[in-house]
Amino acid sequence: MAKQKVWFITGASKGLGLTLVRQLLAAGQQVAATSRSKANLIATVDFTGNNFLPLEVRLGNDDSVATAIKETYQRFGRIDVVVNNAGYGIGGTMEELTDKEVRDSFDVNVFGTVNVIRHVLPVMRTQGSGHIINISSIAGIAPTAGWSIYGAAKHAVIGLTEVLADDVRSLGIKVTLIAPGAFRTNFGNPDSLVLSEKKIDAYAEIHSSIERVSAMSGTQAGDPEKAARLMIELGEMPEPPLYLLLGSDAFARAIKKSDLLSSGYKQWEALSRSTDY
Ligand SMILES: NC(=O)c1ccc[n+]([C@@H]2O[C@H](COP(=O)([O-])OP(=O)(O)OC[C@H]3O[C@@H](n4cnc5c(N)ncnc54)[C@H](OP(=O)(O)O)[C@@H]3O)[C@@H](O)[C@H]2O)c1
Repeated sequence: MAKQKVWFITGASKGLGLTLVRQLLAAGQQVAATSRSKANLIATVDFTGNNFLPLEVRLGNDDSVATAIKETYQRFGRIDVVVNNAGYGIGGTMEELTDKEVRDSFDVNVFGTVNVIRHVLPVMRTQGSGHIINISSIAGIAPTAGWSIYGAAKHAVIGLTEVLADDVRSLGIKVTLIAPGAFRTNFGNPDSLVLSEKKIDAYAEIHSSIERVSAMSGTQAGDPEKAARLMIELGEMPEPPLYLLLGSDAFARAIKKSDLLSSGYKQWEALSRSTDY
């Protein structure tokens, strides 16, 4: 890795975030990383040295995020690459999920990302440089049965990322959206995945589809070490992609979805055009 950069990574005590933090620190990069538990983060990252700044942050809380960005800037004097990685799957039908379950998931999966972006942009705008990498999911492009709220949250991340890229391009700030397929992390395990407390028997078939995600745990095709290496490469690219699908499963699902959308739009073209003056 060429130049030393300052990275800010959310959700770093497990999975993709943890793997990325470890690789970056091993390569001599400066890393601020967030977790719900600083003690747990320090224990799992297991790194001593000034290049690592562990931060306890409630991502849905604007003040907590503002403090974390401020501490990072105070420690390292700049912020080059942000990875909005923290997130979790939420399974259940719309009728089963409570208002709280839905809002909690948006707090982390969407508002956490929005809060980080809002507070890091003044730093990057002043620097005239920076790279924001948002982790969505193939579920935000081609969601499956039982994952409506997770799909909605990850779809929101895609929407805001596309417009953000346009809004900040002239400021010298780059933006990338990553949509992973299934990766062998903690994602499908009970301490990460949230399922609706309420179960309605009429949705038994949907429950089986949801359970298939947990059952995949440990056998997913995606390798987090390779994903982390790719993210580090992205941080080095002068012209990084706006969209990057990760994994052959994500690639196949996204292409199938874009073909379906394209043929569906064309099939109903006459009706679409019929409402013009
Ligand atoms: N693995 C996959 O198959 C897959 C597929 C598509 C997209 N993704 C996305 O990739 C990102 C990383 O996931 P992963 O696979 O690495 O999963 P993971 O191993 O479960 O790690 C998720 C990280 O997100 C944070 N997080 C989880 N629940 C949280 C909550 N309620 N509040 C705040 N932070 C929370 C955790 O941070 P702390 O515990 O440190 O607070 C944790 O380090 C997520 O955005 C996920 O949606 C994963």
